[in-house]
Amino acid sequence: MAGVQKAQRVVLIGFMGAGKTSVGKKLAQELGWRFVDLDDVIESRSQNSVAEIFATAGEKRFRELETEALDFLLGQSNEDMVLALGGGAFVQPANRALLDRAAAATVLLQAPVEELHRRCRLDGRVRPLAQKPATFLQLFEERRAAYESAELKMETMGKDVEQVAAEV
Ligand code: S3P
Repeated sequence: MAGVQKAQRVVLIGFMGAGKTSVGKKLAQELGWRFVDLDDVIESRSQNSVAEIFATAGEKRFRELETEALDFLLGQSNEDMVLALGGGAFVQPANRALLDRAAAATVLLQAPVEELHRRCRLDGRVRPLAQKPATFLQLFEERRAAYESAELKMETMGKDVEQVAAEV
């Protein structure tokens, strides 16, 4: 008897403004898979926006909620899924361990830091860690090494969402 096939998970990672959500939606549509944005899961589980959580409970609490949401999501269903992580999620070793255990395929979306900052300013979302250019740049530098362990790395500069989704 054939075994039950394991759910396939493609996980988009990268810094704020990398295009994880828009590329993820397009890719999921192309594959006919479910699309999930981890920040949306955090918000619906806590009934609070990411910006509110940062403002009232702080980043440390946000990171706990993020890991809980990821654990919940990966354990939850056996559906094939495209998952977009928030920019800081892959940096946390606990989250990388959860992704390893789920045999998720990780794809890093990259762009120069000026371009990432430009996209964040344009898309109108409130990102607590994108408010100060100096913090943005510092985080970008600090996270580089962690992002390097993604299985696939893709440059997004000068490409539209459709192009990047097709390449992934
Ligand atoms: C964060 C990125 C955000 C969100 C939160 C923290 C980060 O997601 O999870 O504001 O630490 O880089 P996006 O990368 O989707 O903006």
